[in-house]
Amino acid sequence: MQNKITVVGAGNVGATCALFLAQQELGDVVLLDILEGVPLGKGLDILQSGAVLGFDGNVVGTNNYADTAGSDVVVITAGLARKPGMDRLDLLKKNAEVVSDITTNVAKHSPDSIIVMVTNPIDVMVYLAYKKSGFPSERVVGQAGILDSARYATFIAMELGVSVKEVKAMVLGGHGDSMVPLPRFSTVSGIPITELIPPNRIQAINERTKVGGGEIVKLLGSGSAYYAPAAATVLMVESILHDSNHVLPCSAYLTGQYGISDLYVGVPVKLGRGGVAGIVEVKLDPHEEQALLNSSEIYKKSIAEISDYL
Ligand code: 2OP
Repeated sequence: MQNKITVVGAGNVGATCALFLAQQELGDVVLLDILEGVPLGKGLDILQSGAVLGFDGNVVGTNNYADTAGSDVVVITAGLARKPGMDRLDLLKKNAEVVSDITTNVAKHSPDSIIVMVTNPIDVMVYLAYKKSGFPSERVVGQAGILDSARYATFIAMELGVSVKEVKAMVLGGHGDSMVPLPRFSTVSGIPITELIPPNRIQAINERTKVGGGEIVKLLGSGSAYYAPAAATVLMVESILHDSNHVLPCSAYLTGQYGISDLYVGVPVKLGRGGVAGIVEVKLDPHEEQALLNSSEIYKKSIAEISDYL
C-alpha cells in the first residue's frame, strides 16, 4: 500500500514540504490548513507540477482532518509568526493552542502515525505534541538539528571552498541561540574541521550558524526560511518511510541520555520506520556537555510556561 503523509499547515514551509515529498514520490500527500481554499489550491498546483517535473502520485489539499485519516507520517508546520506587539510568551501560548488542537486531531485520525514537529519553538512544541497525543515518545520527533547542521555544513563548505557534499556537520541542542555546533564531529571527507579551519574562524562560523534562521528573517523582511527547513523535514520523512535508519540530529525525548530527562533536545538519533529507533550518545567534552545542558534548561522554562496546555 502507498504511504500516506499529511502536512498540517499550507504556509511556505508546509507547501514546500508537500512539493519535495511529492517530487521524491514518498507517498500520497495531504496538505491541510484551516484557511479555506489555500491548501486545495496549493495541492492542485503541486500536483500539476508533476506533469512537468515527471513525478506521479496524489497530492490533495483539504480543510478536513477526515481526509488525513490513516496517515503514516504527519508533519506539523502550522503556527503563528510573531506579530507587532506580541511578546515571545504570547507567541508561545498561541502556538501551544494551535499545536494542541492539531495534535488532538492527528491522534484521533491517524493513531498509528509518526509526528514530525516543525512549528516553533520546536523543542517545546514537540514535547507538547508528545504529551497531547499520548503516543510513545519514539513516534513524536522534532526537526531542527538537520536544518542547523545544514547551515553549518554550508558555511564550512563556503569557508574552505569545497563541495558541500563532502561536509558532514553536527549541531546539537535546542533550535535557538543556545544550539551547540560540534566542530570535533564536523568533517570534510572524514577530516575534522578542527584540522582544517583556525579556531577563530570556527568560532565565527559557529556564531553565524546559531543565528542562521535570524539572518534569513532579516533579509526576507517578512517571514522566515522555508527551503532548507522543508528539505530537512523531508529527509526525516524519507528516513522513516524507507526505514533508512539515517543517523540525524533531531529533537528527541530523553530519558537520562546526556544527563537530561523528560525533555526534547536535539541529539543524534537513528530514524527508521518506527520513528526514533535509538539515541546515539557521543562523549562530549565538559564544555560541550554544559552547553547542551544550558540549552535544555531554556526549554524546561518554556514548557513550564505552557503547563496549561499539557
Ligand atoms: C529557521 O531557523 C525559522 O526555525 C526557522 O529558519
